[in-house]
Amino acid sequence: KIAHIAVIGSCSVDFCTYSPKLPSPGETVIGVKFTTSYGGKGANQCVAAAKLGGKSHMICRLGDDQWGHQYKKHFQENGVDIQNVHIMSNVATGIAQIAVSEKGENQIVIVPGANNYLSIDDVHNASELITSAEILIGQLETPLKPTLEAFKLNKGIKLLNAAPVRADAVEILPYCTILCVNEPEASTLSGINVGSVDEAADAIKRLLKMGCQMVIITLGENGALYASQNETKLIHVLCDPVNAVDTTGAGDAFVGALATFLVTYKDRPIHQIIGAACEVATISVTKEGTQTSYPTNYRPFGREYNYKIL
Ligand code: RIB
Ligand code: NA
Repeated sequence: KIAHIAVIGSCSVDFCTYSPKLPSPGETVIGVKFTTSYGGKGANQCVAAAKLGGKSHMICRLGDDQWGHQYKKHFQENGVDIQNVHIMSNVATGIAQIAVSEKGENQIVIVPGANNYLSIDDVHNASELITSAEILIGQLETPLKPTLEAFKLNKGIKLLNAAPVRADAVEILPYCTILCVNEPEASTLSGINVGSVDEAADAIKRLLKMGCQMVIITLGENGALYASQNETKLIHVLCDPVNAVDTTGAGDAFVGALATFLVTYKDRPIHQIIGAACEVATISVTKEGTQTSYPTNYRPFGREYNYKIL
C-alpha cells in the first residue's frame, strides 16, 4: 500500500561549511570543505518520506532563480509530486548557511526568501490534496497561518514538527494529531525547561494538555520519548549509539520516516514505528549532508527496537 503524504513547508538551498570547530562570535576558523545541497526542513521531510517509498507531495514556494528551477527538478528526480511547488518572481529561493564542526555539531542561519510567501491561497489551491492526504506534515520555517489553515482542513493525521520553534505556535497545538519536537523546542512550547528524560516527561504531559493528541520529544542519541491522550503512559524508545558525522537534518529524517511508516504499517505498535524512524535518523547522522544522507533501500522492523515504559 502506498502512503499519501502531503508536506506544507520550506525549501532551501543549504550552503554548508565543514571545519574543525564552530567559530565563536568575531572568530575566523579555517574550514576543510564546502558543499551546496538541497535542504529546508519541509523539503527534507518530504524527500525522506519519498526515499522510503511514501508517495509524497510538496506544497511550497521557490524563487525564479537558478536554485528554484533546479530544486523543482530535484524533487521530480526523487519521486516527489510537484503540482503544488510554485516558482515566484522577484524573490530569491530560501537559503540556509550551515557550519558543521568535526564533532558533528552545527550552527544554521536561514534566509527564508520565497518561503515567507507561502500563503493561505496556496493552501486553498491545494485543498483537495490537503484535505485528503493520509498524513499532513508542517514545520515552522514558513508562515504559521497557512499551516494552521491546512491543519484545519486535513482529515487524516496532522504531524507538526515545531522547528524552528516560535512561541505563537501554541495556537496550532489543538489541531495536531502528533507534535514532534526536540528538547529546546519542547521547552519553549511547554514552558518547562527540558534537560533530562524526567523533564521531557513533564513537558509531554503539559503539551498533551495544550491540545496535541500525541507528543514525541526526540532526544538525539538517546532516542525519543512519547505519550498520547489515549495512552498516557510514557514510553522511551532507545536507539543505537553511533559516531555522528553530521546531525544536520536528522530530525527531518525522523519526521519523514515516521510519516511513511505510520501510514504504511498501520498494524505495528507506535513504539516500533518510532524505533524504525529513530533508526533512519541514526543512519542519516553517520553521513554528511541532509537529504543525501537519507537511506533509500531501508527495510524497517528488521528487529525489535528497544523501549522502556516509564
Ligand atoms: O533541519 C535541517 C534544515 O534546517 C537544513 O536543511 C536547513 O535548510 C535548515 O532549514
Ligand atoms: Na547527515
